Amino acid sequence: MIARKCLGLCRHSAPSGRGKLCARTYSTSAKRHPVHPEHLCESVWSRVPKGPMDPILGVTVKFLADSAPNKLNLGVGTYRDENGHSYVLPCVREAEARLHQQDIDHEYTCIGGAERFNNLAASLAFGETSPLILNRQIATVQTLSGTGALHIGADFLKSWLPNLRYIHYSTPTWGNHIPICLGSQLEPKRYRYYDSVNIAIEEDNMLEDLNDAPSSSVIMLQVSAHNPTGIDPSRELWKKISEVCKTKKHLVFFDLAYQGFATGNTDNDAWPIRYFVEQGHLPLVSQSFAKNFGLYGQRVGALHVATANPTEAESVKSQLELIIRPQYSSPPIHGARIVSTILGDPVLKNMWKKDVRHMADQIKNIRQLFVSQLKQAGSTRDWSHITKQIGMFCYTGLKEEECRDLAELYHIYMTLDGRASIPGISKNTVGYLADSIAKVTHYQ
Ligand SMILES: Cc1ncc(COP(=O)(O)O)c(C=O)c1O
Repeated sequence: MIARKCLGLCRHSAPSGRGKLCARTYSTSAKRHPVHPEHLCESVWSRVPKGPMDPILGVTVKFLADSAPNKLNLGVGTYRDENGHSYVLPCVREAEARLHQQDIDHEYTCIGGAERFNNLAASLAFGETSPLILNRQIATVQTLSGTGALHIGADFLKSWLPNLRYIHYSTPTWGNHIPICLGSQLEPKRYRYYDSVNIAIEEDNMLEDLNDAPSSSVIMLQVSAHNPTGIDPSRELWKKISEVCKTKKHLVFFDLAYQGFATGNTDNDAWPIRYFVEQGHLPLVSQSFAKNFGLYGQRVGALHVATANPTEAESVKSQLELIIRPQYSSPPIHGARIVSTILGDPVLKNMWKKDVRHMADQIKNIRQLFVSQLKQAGSTRDWSHITKQIGMFCYTGLKEEECRDLAELYHIYMTLDGRASIPGISKNTVGYLADSIAKVTHYQ
């Protein structure tokens, strides 16, 4: 036993005056025990309850805790190679090699990110020859990936549209849209989108809801490869959406998280933004480079706010920077340098376009293989929606109970709404997955 002096970092030391140590001693066998156990501070956190797990990232937590060798994670939307390993795009490898040879520093970048990156990002979303770009009407800031762009965008809307209460989202939408909206003291409202019986968009209902929304509402529209449904509007429908939004003076907030994943062509996938601009809309665009550059953890993204003229664009940009500064001062530099190196070099940009097409094609191949394996496993259910849907996710139609059974009995993890990340399936695992699904759905 050792006699130790309490370090006094506790409420008992208070009466002896500020800064004075509690002089009580105590005995302990522990070598290190800085505070007498009786003198431990009363925690101010004792009433903090444990929060619920994130519905998407929580799937990965459960997956990691499972020690089964045949476990499968179909929860998180990351592209995998054909062996199920994480994938670094060849153009990214090349850009990193080039950066490595340069004498790069690690200085802070500007609050809104580097101008070169911002210009390249805007061109990719709006098109190089967009009048908004040529006339310098877009305020762009680099953000912490797509999530950061949505968040800064929502904060900006809340700050400068004081009467705004809602952002309107599709039913269903990406789970994180809602907490992002609430985090900016706005409320999410829903417009009808997905018809699960016909695996299609409820066009008339969607248009009706947009039309019924109060004038000057903010409408969030996913540009391509809709998450989680995998169903995008046709160009005909986009035209009607544009018309309703214009008539109702709605402000469109585009979420561009999967440019290239719908058709394999990055310009085709950005068509809705460019069409809306042609029609006179001045949208906000949240842009992510997580999926189409495979730069998930680098957190590279941009927020673009289209304005009426260069003076407005400058003012808006300055306000976006005022929002960013107290939150994280300035964005990270490495991922943005990779993106700029690729988009700023015609050879690398071409290589990137091929890499994106490769990922999109692979996803389509896996969809087909998945359906044929389900048939082979004896499932009689109609799975044709799996090949009708596009992009990274498949809205399988599996019920919550079936998803739970897949996890508990077969170590296959996906979100409980039945959304499965297609690149999480490989040639080696598709047979096991199909067999397991056939079993939990009782071959129906
Ligand atoms: C629809 C949608 N928007 C935005 C994001 C943001 O992703 P990140 O913050 O990784 O760029 C995601 C990611 O899954 C998404 O699915």
